[in-house]
Amino acid sequence: MVYQVYPRSFADADGDGVGDLRGITSRLDYLRDLGVDGVWIGPCFTSPQVDHGYDVADYRAIDPLFGTLAEMDELIAAAHARGIRVTLDLVPNHTSDQHPWFRAAVAAGRGSPERARYHFRDGRGRHGELPPGNWRAVFGGSSWTRVAEPDGAPGQWYYHLFAAEQPDLNWAQPAVLAEFEDILRFWLDRGIDGFRIDVADALIKDPAFPDTPDGSAVIPKGEDSPVHALYRALRRVLDAYPGDRMAVIETGAEPEAVALFLRPDEMPLAFNFAFVRAGFSAAEFRKAIDATLAANAIPRAQSTWVTDNHDTPRSVTRYGRVGRIAGAYVPGELSIAGDAPVDEAAGRRRARAVALLLLAMPGAAYLYQGQELGLPNVDDLPEAALQDPIWERSGHTNRGRDGCRVPLPWSGGTPPFGFSAAESTWLPMPPAWAPLTVAAQAADPESMLSLYRTALRLRREHPALGRGTLSWVEDAPTDILALDLVTATETVCLVANFGATPVELPPGEVLLTSLPLHDGRLSAEAVAWVEMRS
Ligand code: NOJ
Repeated sequence: MVYQVYPRSFADADGDGVGDLRGITSRLDYLRDLGVDGVWIGPCFTSPQVDHGYDVADYRAIDPLFGTLAEMDELIAAAHARGIRVTLDLVPNHTSDQHPWFRAAVAAGRGSPERARYHFRDGRGRHGELPPGNWRAVFGGSSWTRVAEPDGAPGQWYYHLFAAEQPDLNWAQPAVLAEFEDILRFWLDRGIDGFRIDVADALIKDPAFPDTPDGSAVIPKGEDSPVHALYRALRRVLDAYPGDRMAVIETGAEPEAVALFLRPDEMPLAFNFAFVRAGFSAAEFRKAIDATLAANAIPRAQSTWVTDNHDTPRSVTRYGRVGRIAGAYVPGELSIAGDAPVDEAAGRRRARAVALLLLAMPGAAYLYQGQELGLPNVDDLPEAALQDPIWERSGHTNRGRDGCRVPLPWSGGTPPFGFSAAESTWLPMPPAWAPLTVAAQAADPESMLSLYRTALRLRREHPALGRGTLSWVEDAPTDILALDLVTATETVCLVANFGATPVELPPGEVLLTSLPLHDGRLSAEAVAWVEMRS
C-alpha cells in the first residue's frame, strides 16, 4: 500500500503556506499508524514550479521551497525507521525550460549537439513562422514553441508534449539515457527505494513528427519501439542495488501495450487507471477488474489499483455527481470536469464502498493523500487562486487540477487547520472542512479515516486481502459483485452492493463493512469483507 504525498499540500513546517519535506517528516507517525508500506513523494526537485514540480531544472537538488538535500536524507532515515519505504517522482520525458541543458540548447543555436538533446525543428512557411507540425499539447495549444536565435532573430521551434516550459528530451540521444542512469544512481545511493516514472511510455516520438488528423502525437510503444531498450537499461540500474528497489510507470496506454513494459527485464509495476475511469456501478467495476487481471496475466506482473491522484477530481465528488462520472484526467486524455450537481453524502457513502474494493484487490494499492479523509474536490476555488497551467493554456475553459490539490486539514476548527502556521495557504482551504480534519476523524469510529485504518490493519492480518487469487461468484444478482479472494490458508468473500436495497451476506465472519449492517444485511451502496468458514 503506497501513499501518495503531494509535497505542496501535505504539511508545512516552515510556515510559508506551502508544504515541505520537514512537514512530511513531522507527520510520518500518522502514516505509520494509518498502515502504509511506502510513500510516493511528488516532484520536490529544483523547479520554476510552472507545473508544480513536473518541470525540473535540477534533478539532483531539492527546491528551496521544499527544503534541502539534508532534509531529504532525514526524511528517508525517519521513514525507514518506521518501516516506510520512500519512492520519488522521476520526470524523464521533459525538463524545465530553465534546465541548464535547455538553456544551453537555445544559446548554442541550430544544428548544435546541445539542441540534439531536445527536439528542435525549423518551422514551416516561407520564413519558418509556422509550427513544424500539427501535434497538440496535452495542456492545450500547439506542441511547438519558437525560440529566438542567439542573434535575436526568430528561430527554430522545439517540441513539448505538455506546457511550453516543459521541453521534451530527445531520448534517441545516448547522452540522455546516460544522464538519467546517473540520476537514478544519485537517489538510490541516498537510500531511495524506487521511483514513480512520469509519462513513462512517451519517451520516444516519431522523429518525423508527421501531421495527424486530430493533432495527436505519434508515440511508438510497440514491441519494436526503442523505448523498451531504455527501460531495460533503467531496470539494470535498479537491479544493481540491494534491497528490492522498484519503479512504477505512469502510462495511459492500452493494456496490451502496458504489458510490454512489464516484461521481466523491464519495469515491475505500471499504474492502472481502470478504477479512475469506472463510474459507480457493478458493471463498470466488473469490467475494470476483469480488464486489469487479463492484461497483467500476460507478463505475470502484479496489478496496481488506484482511484485518486493529484490529476483527477477526488472520488467523493466523482461518485457524488448525479449521472455519469466525468472529469478524470489520465495521461493523454484530458476532459473537463462535469458540472452536474454533487450529492456529497452519496459520494462519501460510495467512496467508502470503493475503499474496501480497492484495498482487497490483489496487488499494490495506491492511496492519494486526503482520500483516507474522504475530502471532496474543491470545485469552487476563486479563479484568481487557480495555478494549474491548464487554466491558462485552455484559454480559461478548463479549471484544471487544483481542486484535488488543496492542503490537508490536520486539526482545529478554522483554516489552515494545522496544515501551516501561515494564515493563507497556497490554495485556500474551505472553512467547511472542520469536521474532516485528521483530529476530528481520529476521534470518530465511524469516520472515513477509521474505516481506512481498520481496513489496512485487516489487510495486513489477512493474506487473502491484497494478496489472494481472485475468482468471481458467478450467480450474483445484477447490481451485486461477489468475489472470492483465496490463499492456501483462507478465503475472504467480498460482496459489493451497488444497488438500492440491502442484500444477504454469505455465512461467515463479517470482518468489515463500509456501512453498518441493516437488519443483518449489507446496506445499499456498501461493501463487505466476509471470512468464509472452511
Ligand atoms: C503526469 C503528472 O501526473 C502530471 O501532474 C503532470 O502535469 C504531467 N505528467 C506532466 O509532467
